[in-house]
Amino acid sequence: MSDHRPPRDASRDLYRRSGARKAPPPAAAPRESEGTVKEVTSLANPVVKELRALHMKKERAESGLFLAEGLKLVTDALEEGWPIRTLVHAARVKDQPLVKRAVATAKARGALVLETSDEVLTKICRRDNPQMVVAAFEQKIGRLADLTNPTGVWVALEGVKDPGNLGTIVRTVDSVGASGVILLGDTTDPFALEAVRATMGSLFHVPLYAASLEDFVAWKRATGIGVWGTHLKGAVDYRSVDWPETCVLMMGNEQSGISDAHVAACDGIVKIPMAGRADSLNLAVATAVTLYEIRRSRLTV
Ligand SMILES: C[S@@+](CC[C@H](N)C(=O)[O-])C[C@H]1O[C@@H](n2cnc3c(N)ncnc32)[C@H](O)[C@@H]1O
Repeated sequence: MSDHRPPRDASRDLYRRSGARKAPPPAAAPRESEGTVKEVTSLANPVVKELRALHMKKERAESGLFLAEGLKLVTDALEEGWPIRTLVHAARVKDQPLVKRAVATAKARGALVLETSDEVLTKICRRDNPQMVVAAFEQKIGRLADLTNPTGVWVALEGVKDPGNLGTIVRTVDSVGASGVILLGDTTDPFALEAVRATMGSLFHVPLYAASLEDFVAWKRATGIGVWGTHLKGAVDYRSVDWPETCVLMMGNEQSGISDAHVAACDGIVKIPMAGRADSLNLAVATAVTLYEIRRSRLTV
C-alpha cells in the first residue's frame, strides 16, 4: 500500500473547513497598504503592536492569526499555500534572493509587507537576536467529523500541555510520514510561538485536527479506525503488535497520562519497556519511539 499521507491539496482543503476550536474569523478586508512594501521605523507602529500581540493566546484566538519566525518557516508556509497577512523583514536582508522571493509571493497574495530595523524585529519577536523575517499567517485546524476517510497513522494527544512537546511531535509525525495529529480536549495552542518553533516548519505540512473525546469516539465509530493507547500500565510490548497501515496512536498528558475515559476509547494498550529507575519517558520521546516502530517497514535510509 502507498504512503497514506493525504495529498497536499487535499489536506489544505481539510484545513480550510471550520475548526472544532473557535473558528478563525473571516479574513478582514484588505488594508489600504496591502500588497505594497512599507518602511517602518517606529516601535509604536500599530502593525508592530498587532504582531507583538500575537504572542498572547487570547489575541491569536480572536484574530485567527499566528506568527512564524525565520526565512525557512515563512518560505515553507508560503510554499504550502498558507494564507499570509503580514510579512516583516529587516531592511538589511532585502536583497537576499530568498527574501525577495518571499516578499514577491506575499505581495502577490495581497499581504502587507514591512521593511524594518533590527530593533523593531527584536520588539516583534520579543527576543534579542531576532529572525530577519517574520510573518503572520491565518491558522488552519480541521474538524474531525470532516475527516471521513482517514488513512495512515494518526497521533491523538490527550490534553498535551507543553508547546515544545507538541511541536516536537508534529515534527516527528512529519519525519515518519504519518498522516496528522488530533488534539483531544484542552491542549496547549499549536499556534503558540514556542510550538511553531519546535515544529521546525512541519506545522505547515502536517494536518491538525481538534476534537472533544465525545467527537473522537463518534468519529472512531463512524470510520472504524483502530485506536492504540500507550500507558505505563500496559501489558503488551509495543514491539509485539502487528501494527495496521491505518490506525490512531493515542498518547497521554505529561503529568497524568491517558485518563480512564480515553483508555475506554482504545482498542488496545501498549507499553514501552522501562529498564532503569525513570518512571516514564518524556511524551515526545515516547511518541517518537512508538511511531518509528509502527512505521518501521515503511522507512528506509
Ligand atoms: C510523561 S508520560 C505520563 C506519565 C504519567 N505520570 C502517567 O502515569 O502516565 C506521558 C505519556 O507518554 C507516554 N509514555 C511515556 N512513557 C511510556 C512508557 N514507558 N510506555 C508507554 N507509554 C509511555 C504515555 O502516553 C504517557 O501518557
